[in-house]
Amino acid sequence: MKAVLKAENINKHFKKPVDFHVLKDINFQINSGEFSSIMGKSGSGKSTLLYILSTMDTDYEGKLFLNNQLVTGKSHQELSKIRNEHIGFVFQFHYLLAEFSVLENVMLPAKKLGRLSTSEIEHNAFSKLKMLNIEQLANKRASRISGGEKQRVAIARALINSPSILMGDEPTGNLDSYNAENVFQIFKRLKEEEGLSLLIVTHDLDFAKRTDRIIEMEDGYLVK
Ligand SMILES: Nc1ncnc2c1ncn2[C@@H]1O[C@H](COP(=O)(O)OP(=O)(O)OP(=O)(O)O)[C@@H](O)[C@H]1O
Ligand SMILES: [Mg+2]
Repeated sequence: MKAVLKAENINKHFKKPVDFHVLKDINFQINSGEFSSIMGKSGSGKSTLLYILSTMDTDYEGKLFLNNQLVTGKSHQELSKIRNEHIGFVFQFHYLLAEFSVLENVMLPAKKLGRLSTSEIEHNAFSKLKMLNIEQLANKRASRISGGEKQRVAIARALINSPSILMGDEPTGNLDSYNAENVFQIFKRLKEEEGLSLLIVTHDLDFAKRTDRIIEMEDGYLVK
Protein backbone atom coordinates (compact mmCIF):
# COMPACT_ATOMS: atom_id res chain seq x y z
CA MET A 1 0.00 0.00 0.00
CA LYS A 2 1.31 3.41 -0.96
CA ALA A 3 1.27 5.88 1.93
CA VAL A 4 0.16 9.42 1.11
CA LEU A 5 0.79 10.59 4.62
CA LYS A 6 2.71 9.09 7.48
CA ALA A 7 3.12 10.32 11.05
CA GLU A 8 5.95 8.89 13.12
CA ASN A 9 6.07 9.42 16.87
CA ILE A 10 4.46 12.84 16.77
CA ASN A 11 4.40 14.61 20.13
CA LYS A 12 3.35 18.14 20.84
CA HIS A 13 3.37 20.31 23.90
CA PHE A 14 1.69 23.65 24.42
CA LYS A 15 4.09 25.46 26.71
CA LYS A 16 1.88 28.29 27.87
CA PRO A 17 0.46 28.98 30.37
CA VAL A 18 1.78 25.65 31.70
CA ASP A 19 3.33 22.67 29.93
CA PHE A 20 0.55 20.63 28.35
CA HIS A 21 1.29 17.40 26.46
CA VAL A 22 -1.43 17.65 23.84
CA LEU A 23 -0.35 14.97 21.30
CA LYS A 24 1.21 11.75 22.56
CA ASP A 25 3.20 9.39 20.32
CA ILE A 26 1.00 9.61 17.28
CA ASN A 27 1.82 6.90 14.71
CA PHE A 28 -0.32 6.16 11.69
CA GLN A 29 -0.46 6.34 7.93
CA ILE A 30 -3.07 7.15 5.34
CA ASN A 31 -2.90 5.03 2.21
CA SER A 32 -3.50 6.31 -1.26
CA GLY A 33 -7.20 6.35 -2.08
CA GLU A 34 -8.27 5.88 1.53
CA PHE A 35 -11.18 7.91 2.98
CA SER A 36 -10.58 8.13 6.72
CA SER A 37 -12.21 10.08 9.48
CA ILE A 38 -10.97 11.27 12.86
CA MET A 39 -13.34 11.30 15.80
CA GLY A 40 -12.89 12.12 19.46
CA LYS A 41 -14.20 14.26 22.26
CA SER A 42 -13.81 18.01 22.25
CA GLY A 43 -10.29 18.85 23.39
CA SER A 44 -8.82 15.44 22.50
CA GLY A 45 -6.37 17.04 20.04
CA LYS A 46 -7.98 16.56 16.61
CA SER A 47 -7.50 20.08 15.27
CA THR A 48 -4.00 20.28 16.76
CA LEU A 49 -3.10 17.06 14.93
CA LEU A 50 -4.63 18.22 11.66
CA TYR A 51 -2.64 21.47 11.78
CA ILE A 52 0.56 19.45 12.06
CA LEU A 53 -0.43 16.96 9.35
CA SER A 54 -1.29 19.79 6.98
CA THR A 55 2.20 21.31 7.65
CA MET A 56 0.71 24.55 8.99
CA ASP A 57 2.10 23.91 12.48
CA THR A 58 5.80 23.01 12.62
CA ASP A 59 6.23 23.12 16.40
CA TYR A 60 6.22 19.38 17.27
CA GLU A 61 8.53 16.41 17.79
CA GLY A 62 8.54 13.40 15.47
CA LYS A 63 8.42 12.99 11.74
CA LEU A 64 5.86 13.70 9.08
CA PHE A 65 6.07 12.26 5.57
CA LEU A 66 4.00 13.27 2.55
CA ASN A 67 4.21 10.92 -0.43
CA ASN A 68 7.20 9.27 1.28
CA GLN A 69 9.05 12.58 1.45
CA LEU A 70 10.11 13.83 4.87
CA VAL A 71 8.57 17.26 5.35
CA THR A 72 9.59 17.81 8.98
CA GLY A 73 12.36 20.38 9.22
CA LYS A 74 11.69 22.10 5.89
CA SER A 75 11.57 25.89 5.72
CA HIS A 76 8.28 27.76 5.86
CA GLN A 77 8.72 28.74 2.23
CA GLU A 78 9.20 25.12 1.11
CA LEU A 79 6.26 24.01 3.26
CA SER A 80 3.99 26.63 1.79
CA LYS A 81 4.79 25.30 -1.68
CA ILE A 82 4.34 21.64 -0.66
CA ARG A 83 1.04 22.49 1.01
CA ASN A 84 -0.30 24.41 -1.95
CA GLU A 85 0.60 21.60 -4.30
CA HIS A 86 -0.21 18.45 -2.32
CA ILE A 87 -2.75 19.25 0.37
CA GLY A 88 -6.29 20.48 0.02
CA PHE A 89 -7.86 21.82 3.19
CA VAL A 90 -11.50 22.48 4.05
CA PHE A 91 -12.50 24.10 7.34
CA GLN A 92 -15.76 24.36 9.21
CA PHE A 93 -15.97 27.94 8.03
CA HIS A 94 -15.22 28.41 4.36
CA TYR A 95 -12.89 31.46 4.40
CA LEU A 96 -13.83 32.54 0.89
CA LEU A 97 -12.95 36.06 -0.18
CA ALA A 98 -16.33 37.76 -0.03
CA GLU A 99 -15.62 40.43 -2.65
CA PHE A 100 -14.31 37.97 -5.23
CA SER A 101 -16.39 35.85 -7.56
CA VAL A 102 -16.81 32.14 -6.98
CA LEU A 103 -14.58 31.39 -9.98
CA GLU A 104 -11.84 33.77 -8.77
CA ASN A 105 -11.88 32.17 -5.31
CA VAL A 106 -11.37 28.73 -6.83
CA MET A 107 -8.59 30.00 -9.12
CA LEU A 108 -6.50 31.61 -6.36
CA PRO A 109 -4.38 28.64 -5.15
CA ALA A 110 -3.51 27.77 -8.78
CA LYS A 111 -2.46 31.36 -9.47
CA LYS A 112 -0.30 31.22 -6.39
CA LEU A 113 1.31 27.98 -7.62
CA GLY A 114 1.99 29.70 -10.94
CA ARG A 115 2.30 26.60 -13.11
CA LEU A 116 -0.42 27.33 -15.67
CA SER A 117 -1.68 30.27 -17.68
CA THR A 118 -4.69 32.22 -16.43
CA SER A 119 -6.93 30.74 -19.13
CA GLU A 120 -5.86 27.18 -18.27
CA ILE A 121 -6.51 27.89 -14.59
CA GLU A 122 -9.91 29.33 -15.42
CA HIS A 123 -10.73 26.23 -17.45
CA ASN A 124 -9.70 23.94 -14.55
CA ALA A 125 -11.59 26.00 -11.99
CA PHE A 126 -14.69 25.81 -14.13
CA SER A 127 -14.44 22.04 -14.43
CA LYS A 128 -14.10 21.71 -10.64
CA LEU A 129 -17.26 23.79 -10.24
CA LYS A 130 -18.98 21.57 -12.78
CA MET A 131 -17.91 18.44 -10.91
CA LEU A 132 -19.54 19.86 -7.78
CA ASN A 133 -22.67 20.94 -9.66
CA ILE A 134 -22.20 24.65 -9.01
CA GLU A 135 -20.91 25.90 -12.36
CA GLN A 136 -23.91 28.21 -12.59
CA LEU A 137 -22.49 30.16 -9.62
CA ALA A 138 -19.13 30.89 -11.30
CA ASN A 139 -19.61 34.63 -11.71
CA LYS A 140 -21.53 35.30 -8.52
CA ARG A 141 -19.86 37.07 -5.63
CA ALA A 142 -18.85 34.65 -2.90
CA SER A 143 -20.82 36.70 -0.36
CA ARG A 144 -24.05 36.18 -2.33
CA ILE A 145 -24.39 32.40 -2.19
CA SER A 146 -25.79 30.03 0.43
CA GLY A 147 -23.81 28.29 3.19
CA GLY A 148 -23.98 24.90 1.50
CA GLU A 149 -22.89 26.44 -1.80
CA LYS A 150 -20.00 28.23 -0.09
CA GLN A 151 -18.75 24.95 1.33
CA ARG A 152 -18.85 23.37 -2.13
CA VAL A 153 -16.88 26.34 -3.49
CA ALA A 154 -14.36 25.82 -0.68
CA ILE A 155 -14.03 22.18 -1.74
CA ALA A 156 -13.52 23.20 -5.39
CA ARG A 157 -10.82 25.63 -4.24
CA ALA A 158 -9.15 22.89 -2.16
CA LEU A 159 -9.07 20.64 -5.25
CA ILE A 160 -7.82 23.12 -7.84
CA ASN A 161 -4.17 22.03 -7.67
CA SER A 162 -5.09 18.32 -7.71
CA PRO A 163 -3.77 17.56 -4.21
CA SER A 164 -2.70 14.08 -3.06
CA ILE A 165 -4.88 14.38 0.02
CA LEU A 166 -7.87 16.41 1.10
CA MET A 167 -8.06 17.24 4.81
CA GLY A 168 -11.02 18.72 6.58
CA ASP A 169 -11.65 20.00 10.07
CA GLU A 170 -15.38 19.50 10.59
CA PRO A 171 -16.23 20.55 7.04
CA THR A 172 -19.87 19.63 7.60
CA GLY A 173 -20.05 20.99 11.15
CA ASN A 174 -21.75 24.17 10.10
CA LEU A 175 -24.18 22.66 7.60
CA ASP A 176 -27.71 21.34 7.90
CA SER A 177 -28.21 17.62 7.35
CA TYR A 178 -29.11 17.99 3.68
CA ASN A 179 -25.95 19.94 2.84
CA ALA A 180 -23.82 17.76 5.11
CA GLU A 181 -24.98 14.68 3.20
CA ASN A 182 -24.25 16.45 -0.06
CA VAL A 183 -20.65 17.13 1.05
CA PHE A 184 -20.26 13.51 2.21
CA GLN A 185 -21.39 12.27 -1.23
CA ILE A 186 -18.92 14.63 -2.92
CA PHE A 187 -16.08 13.25 -0.78
CA LYS A 188 -17.12 9.69 -1.54
CA ARG A 189 -17.25 10.39 -5.25
CA LEU A 190 -13.80 12.01 -5.14
CA LYS A 191 -12.44 8.86 -3.56
CA GLU A 192 -14.20 6.50 -5.94
CA GLU A 193 -13.81 8.41 -9.18
CA GLU A 194 -10.55 10.29 -8.69
CA GLY A 195 -8.80 8.01 -6.20
CA LEU A 196 -8.38 10.94 -3.83
CA SER A 197 -7.22 10.29 -0.24
CA LEU A 198 -9.25 12.03 2.44
CA LEU A 199 -8.77 12.68 6.14
CA ILE A 200 -11.77 14.33 7.74
CA VAL A 201 -12.32 15.34 11.37
CA THR A 202 -15.98 14.99 12.25
CA HIS A 203 -18.32 14.81 15.22
CA ASP A 204 -20.92 13.08 13.09
CA LEU A 205 -20.85 9.34 13.79
CA ASP A 206 -23.17 8.66 10.87
CA PHE A 207 -20.67 10.36 8.55
CA ALA A 208 -17.66 8.60 10.09
CA LYS A 209 -19.24 5.14 9.97
CA ARG A 210 -19.47 5.36 6.21
CA THR A 211 -15.77 6.17 5.70
CA ASP A 212 -13.14 3.44 5.17
CA ARG A 213 -11.66 3.89 8.62
CA ILE A 214 -12.37 5.75 11.85
CA ILE A 215 -9.30 7.00 13.69
CA GLU A 216 -10.23 7.71 17.27
CA MET A 217 -8.49 10.23 19.50
CA GLU A 218 -8.66 10.25 23.24
CA ASP A 219 -6.72 12.60 25.45
CA GLY A 220 -3.95 13.17 22.88
CA TYR A 221 -3.58 9.48 22.00
CA LEU A 222 -4.78 7.57 18.97
CA VAL A 223 -6.81 4.65 20.21
CA LYS A 224 -7.65 1.48 18.21
N1 LIG B 1 -2.70 27.54 21.62
C1 LIG B 1 -3.00 26.72 22.62
N2 LIG B 1 -2.39 26.82 23.82
C2 LIG B 1 -2.67 25.99 24.85
N3 LIG B 1 -3.57 24.98 24.75
C3 LIG B 1 -4.23 24.81 23.60
C4 LIG B 1 -3.98 25.67 22.46
N4 LIG B 1 -4.77 25.26 21.44
C5 LIG B 1 -5.47 24.21 21.91
N5 LIG B 1 -5.15 23.93 23.20
C6 LIG B 1 -5.67 22.83 24.02
O1 LIG B 1 -5.28 21.60 23.42
C7 LIG B 1 -6.33 20.63 23.53
C8 LIG B 1 -6.66 20.08 22.15
O2 LIG B 1 -7.27 21.11 21.38
P1 LIG B 1 -7.85 20.83 19.93
O3 LIG B 1 -8.32 22.12 19.39
O4 LIG B 1 -6.85 20.07 19.14
O5 LIG B 1 -9.08 19.87 20.29
P2 LIG B 1 -10.17 19.23 19.30
O6 LIG B 1 -10.10 17.75 19.49
O7 LIG B 1 -10.01 19.75 17.93
O8 LIG B 1 -11.52 19.75 19.94
P3 LIG B 1 -12.93 20.19 19.23
O9 LIG B 1 -13.64 18.91 18.94
O10 LIG B 1 -13.61 20.98 20.28
O11 LIG B 1 -12.60 20.98 18.01
C9 LIG B 1 -7.47 21.32 24.25
O12 LIG B 1 -7.41 20.96 25.60
C10 LIG B 1 -7.19 22.79 24.05
O13 LIG B 1 -7.70 23.54 25.13
MG1 LIG C 1 -11.18 21.02 16.70
